[in-house]
Amino acid sequence: MPQPTVATMDKIVSLCKRRGFIFPASEIYGGIANTYDYGHYGVLLKNNVVAEWWKAMIQERDDIVALDSAIIQHPRTWEASGHLAGFTDPLVDCRTCKMRFRADHLGELQCGKRPSKHPGEDAACDLTEAREFNLMFETTIGPVKDAGSTVFLRPETAQGIFLDFKQVLQFARRKPPFGIAQVGKSFRNEITPGNFIFRTLEFEQMEMEYFVPPAEALNWYEHWLHERFEWYVRLGIERNRLRLRAHDPDELSHYSSGTSDVEYLFPIGWSELEGIANRGDFDLTQHAKHSGERLEYHDTQTGERYVPHVIEPAAGVGRSVLAFLCDAYDEDEIGGEKRTVLRLHPALAPVKVAVLPLLRKDGQPELARHVYEALRRRMKAEYDDGGAIGRRYRRQDEIGTPFAVTIDHQSLEDRTVTVRDRDTLQQERVAIDALAGHLQARLDPVAV
Ligand code: GAP
Repeated sequence: MPQPTVATMDKIVSLCKRRGFIFPASEIYGGIANTYDYGHYGVLLKNNVVAEWWKAMIQERDDIVALDSAIIQHPRTWEASGHLAGFTDPLVDCRTCKMRFRADHLGELQCGKRPSKHPGEDAACDLTEAREFNLMFETTIGPVKDAGSTVFLRPETAQGIFLDFKQVLQFARRKPPFGIAQVGKSFRNEITPGNFIFRTLEFEQMEMEYFVPPAEALNWYEHWLHERFEWYVRLGIERNRLRLRAHDPDELSHYSSGTSDVEYLFPIGWSELEGIANRGDFDLTQHAKHSGERLEYHDTQTGERYVPHVIEPAAGVGRSVLAFLCDAYDEDEIGGEKRTVLRLHPALAPVKVAVLPLLRKDGQPELARHVYEALRRRMKAEYDDGGAIGRRYRRQDEIGTPFAVTIDHQSLEDRTVTVRDRDTLQQERVAIDALAGHLQARLDPVAV
């Protein structure tokens, strides 16, 4: 039976706050529901996750192009996509405690007056009938709020890709099978308590729409299930804490003829990390109908015309960050002292190397600064000369820095330094002149 890591959600939340990765937004005003800010290390980690996704999508393949479409699209987009009519959650209100709950999640939620019970279980609970509540955030263009000015913040990045399908087909001179990839913010008016960054009101998605000849759809669906699962494994997630789960027919989104989730064994249990959907020709057909544009592929050589089918791997940046943090979190003991360490894959670690003078005297800080300035041109490095060396190592372990370089008295004599490995704790002496190459080879053996 696979087990979650030693991480609990409380430990992850506390580490993220303590080290400035991620913390509640608007905290000076008491916070705002399901909304978080990313601090320095959080930004670096998140950027690394996104960079690895782009690398897998467009650097390591030649059949996918990039796109960055607008967050606010023409409002008819959401009529055509089905989001206006169908992107809803069933909600109930409690007339006693005045709280609002997802009707389909009552068993996981706490009663507003008696948190030991679920909503509806206490005699005092007085729940309304369930009503459908649209998840899209609405706003207006221009100063006057009238029916014609209502627009929506996109609830998925995917629709911008469908709207630009024709442009890309022309300008990128593509022919199915080919994909369009996009990373950006999406917004959903979620009312379920979010489990830290697992479910938030605004979140980044990494989505790719892969357009294929209809007869090849099933093969490409299988291809992308495999590719996306292995991406997480390559970046260090324990294989047995990941699984693929096919949706039951009653779970499928309105556009999907088949969806499987990549699920991760979070501390809250198995939960969705990414969805891979077979969207068929639903979106292109709908947008063609609503816009009057022909959204199809025309092969000028064979004369063949068809509406491509779409396979969509759709991942959440925040959810991936949370999974990488949970999976990397570990606790061990050094010399009788407890250590918290993030065993992040080097490609994801916010900082690759810390440069630490052993003492703040005898020319050590000057040499350390010199080493640091040479390294930072090649990789994200950090200089730290504050406090006992053991505490400085612990700090770097907690933010997942794979290597710490220490400058000591011997360094001034023979121009060598020690390189400490975060995971094995082994230290080896390396010549300063060979240091950058040595670290690069260990950080990314394939690239060297
Ligand atoms: N275009 C398809 C689509 O949006 P989805 O399963 O609703 O599919 C894809 O979303 C991914 O986006 C999810 O697997 C999850 O990682 C992320 N996601 C969705 N809603 C989220 C939320 N409220 N907060 C954080 N991440 C979310």
